[in-house]
Amino acid sequence: MNDAAASLAHLLVREDVRAASAYHVQDARDLIRLDQMESPYGWPPQLRGVLAERLANAQMNRYPDPRAAGVQQRLRDAFGIPGRWSIMPGNGSDEIIQILTSALAAPGARVMAPSPTFVMFRVLAGWAGLPYDEVPLAEDFGLDADAMCAAIAQHRPRLLFLACPNNPTGNLFDAGALERVLEAARDALVVIDEAYWAFSSRDHLDWLDRHPNLVIMRTLSKLGLAGLRLGFLVGDPAWIGEFDKVRLPYNVGVLHQIAAEVALENFGVLREQTRLIAAERARLASILGSDPRLHLWPGEANFLLVRVLAGRAKDVHAAMIRHGVLIKCLDGGHPRLAGCLRLGVGTAEENARMLAALDAGLRETTG
Ligand SMILES: Cc1ncc(COP(=O)(O)O)c(C=O)c1O
Repeated sequence: MNDAAASLAHLLVREDVRAASAYHVQDARDLIRLDQMESPYGWPPQLRGVLAERLANAQMNRYPDPRAAGVQQRLRDAFGIPGRWSIMPGNGSDEIIQILTSALAAPGARVMAPSPTFVMFRVLAGWAGLPYDEVPLAEDFGLDADAMCAAIAQHRPRLLFLACPNNPTGNLFDAGALERVLEAARDALVVIDEAYWAFSSRDHLDWLDRHPNLVIMRTLSKLGLAGLRLGFLVGDPAWIGEFDKVRLPYNVGVLHQIAAEVALENFGVLREQTRLIAAERARLASILGSDPRLHLWPGEANFLLVRVLAGRAKDVHAAMIRHGVLIKCLDGGHPRLAGCLRLGVGTAEENARMLAALDAGLRETTG
């Protein structure tokens, strides 16, 4: 490292940026990767062939369509989004969260979310310079509507994030509690993040008609396209029109647009894969739920949350890696998640390996 560059960087870069760590992803070489809530399924060979042909004809010398109109139309068709709502595609939901926090950042503005929840809400509010208020979830990780309404009255947030189903807890918040929070936050923008919509028993798209303060965020990441990076926001044109000004004009590249179009034209294939994952989740839940060494929470996403009752979660996690399976250890990340592991749902074969590694880890660490 050049000393002059280092001292200049120290002088010029924001203090909070210097104090932060870069996003870290654990190396999963030679391991069954079940820590990032990805789909375990690749594309069938026939679809790969179609994709290869379409990509070969991509006009790489041209900038992409700045609105990704072809992607928007296919999103509308695949997800059944009525014409009265606008769509804004982003480079993953992460970029959309960044656009929202940038667009709403102003002196005095605050962001709110229940806790624990998806970490990028807090991280990206921070980079936009927005104070972030966390409201603890109830004992069972349900939405504590009384506490949320009181916190809304006290802090008057401008932007409120609600992940439904929530990550890392995996549960779907009660509809009545959500309605109360939406009503209490009628002077704020509420974002329901439906990243795990495809695995869940309820979605909130038709709530847009009743709540002018609501927008819905979704992603293709959990539908087998995590590598593509395509998220999108759905809402009233009044909201989307403003956010579209903050979005970088060419945020979805030529190759991304083609790949997303091919995927969405074959949405049935992706949906069938999500149905397999949901069925595997139910099977896993019945096994994990009857294990006296664990506490299992009900999950409506493509992962399950358990607390290790016998032994230490960190040791179980390390033992599982030795047995060739990577899951997420949440112990130490948040006080409410002490002793917790997040288990991604893979193929039936991967899940069998995961259960065997978990069993071995529990046996080895409790002696
Ligand atoms: C609740 C939630 N929202 C958004 C995302 C990120 O989605 P994307 O891959 O589209 O950035 C995740 C990823 O794990 C998530 O858990």
